[in-house]
Amino acid sequence: MRVNPSFKQVMAKPTCQNRLMTKLLPCALMILASSTAIADEKPKSNMGFEIMRSQTLGNCLACHEMPGVEGLVSTMGPSLKGVARKWTRAELTQWVKDARQMNSQTLMPPFGTTEGLTKANPPRAILSDAQISQVVDTLQTWQ
Ligand code: HEC
Repeated sequence: MRVNPSFKQVMAKPTCQNRLMTKLLPCALMILASSTAIADEKPKSNMGFEIMRSQTLGNCLACHEMPGVEGLVSTMGPSLKGVARKWTRAELTQWVKDARQMNSQTLMPPFGTTEGLTKANPPRAILSDAQISQVVDTLQTWQ
């Protein structure tokens, strides 16, 4: 059968719809994927930040300067700016969980254990492992 040349041409050229599918769709999907990635990350890092700022949870501001917080800052402990360059995730977790393991003379309270404390009130760790992990997520963004 002889195919009409103009028909062949039409078939060879991507139609407008085809072009949309091959060029725009992956692009649209990428934008969608990246926006959900941001949406996934944000609450995580904000949670850590909120725990650190909260006076009833981390209250890290009582002793540390923190990125994103202006005004009255304590110099009791070192600034947490750039802390992710100094320590690995495991070390940062250890600092928050039980700073005494990093420096036996530390003034920093243990947030993840009551071990060795005789009058802990309430008699439980200040932060759960999940909360410590969120705090460390935030610390790790401070390069
Ligand atoms: C009572 C004061 C105090 C509080 C509250 C406190 N820290 Fe600390 N922290 C210190 C001191 C002091 C150091 C310095 C090291 C040392 O002396 O042991 C330190 C060290 C650190 C370090 C190591 C920093 C470095 O540059 O080497 C990290 C990380 C850290 N603290 C995170 C936290 C986080 C996160 C919180 C809140 C959940 C917190 N700290 C709450 C006093 C405190």
